[in-house]
Amino acid sequence: MRGLSDDNAPLLVRYFLDKISGAISKDIIIQRNPDMWRWREFLPLPLEMEPISLGETETPLIAFSKLPNVFIKDEGRLPTGSFKARGMAVAVSMAKHLNENGFVVPTAGNAGSAAAAYAAAAGMQTHVYAPIDTPDVMLQEIKFHGAQCHHVDGLIDRCGQLAKKAANEYRLHNLSTLAEPYRLEGKKTIGFELALQFNWSLPNVIYYPTGGGTGFIGMWKAFDELEAIGWIDSSRPRMVSVQTLGCNPIQQAFEAGHKDIMKKYTPVDTIVPGVRVPKPLGGRLILSVLQASRGHARAVSDDAIIECRDQIAKSEGINLCLEGAACHVAYLSDLESGAVDRDETVIIFNTANGLKWKMPEL
Ligand SMILES: Cc1ncc(COP(=O)(O)O)c(C=O)c1O
Repeated sequence: MRGLSDDNAPLLVRYFLDKISGAISKDIIIQRNPDMWRWREFLPLPLEMEPISLGETETPLIAFSKLPNVFIKDEGRLPTGSFKARGMAVAVSMAKHLNENGFVVPTAGNAGSAAAAYAAAAGMQTHVYAPIDTPDVMLQEIKFHGAQCHHVDGLIDRCGQLAKKAANEYRLHNLSTLAEPYRLEGKKTIGFELALQFNWSLPNVIYYPTGGGTGFIGMWKAFDELEAIGWIDSSRPRMVSVQTLGCNPIQQAFEAGHKDIMKKYTPVDTIVPGVRVPKPLGGRLILSVLQASRGHARAVSDDAIIECRDQIAKSEGINLCLEGAACHVAYLSDLESGAVDRDETVIIFNTANGLKWKMPEL
């Protein structure tokens, strides 16, 4: 199965969108089960194939008690407790359909546990490469689903090198972020869902914790596809990429006006696993979405994230993951600086269930 282009760039799936718009309508979509497979025609798996599914439900929008136009999109409700389920459901279904033997995947934790679960459901083997300081629950989850978990003394880029080597050696399919085109297709369903939840318009601003950027790029692709078939108009949200002060290659590149991430961020020093990606393969795509959406990039401190998570748990009853709390910190700082107005409709992505991290000692 093809992974990257000849010059090692990500491959993007293109559809005959006029055929899709002739075959389905908004009404048909609305009548289907509220899960990611209601977008079937916009996904690469042939319609006659059964997907490998663990119940990828539509995730709710939860309004803040004191900020009624700010919504948490709670992706922690998905199988294996994170948004990684969306991408892995499509990528594993496609790999099964194309007769792959099994997988390798480098991970910050959640992609590995999702890959392990979907591969188990598909009856396929998986080798997961995770940094040694990956949260324990995620490492245990990977093994619990029967995958081989390799503990790597290094960051995700080192995990990626080892995974690629193993993929070539054992003829396994490499599920590394954007090294194959199908995880992005699963992730883009977040964008479709938002359009439907906002009655075919879109919110003003979206805060997304960015590591490899699949959801960020995927949402924008979904908006492009919906606009191309006339289901939404051309107004788009400002997309905000959120990282931390200890790993912010996207913010640095964006603010320097670069079109790609030129150098690896070093030294990486943050407790937030999902953003610990020193040089994302999809850097060019992420930066082009920031540009096209007139968005911006933010980096927040680990201390502010911990404090915000604690405060939201007590004031709203929501256990945010560290990455979700990072988005909320970025929003509050933008509110204060005037980069976002109080009356704008805002989405804060909570990309995983907070229970996947060690709870603070009390
Ligand atoms: C909870 C969480 N949020 C955000 C991210 C970053 O996601 P992406 O690679 O799509 O930018 C990750 C990646 O591991 C994650 O686990």
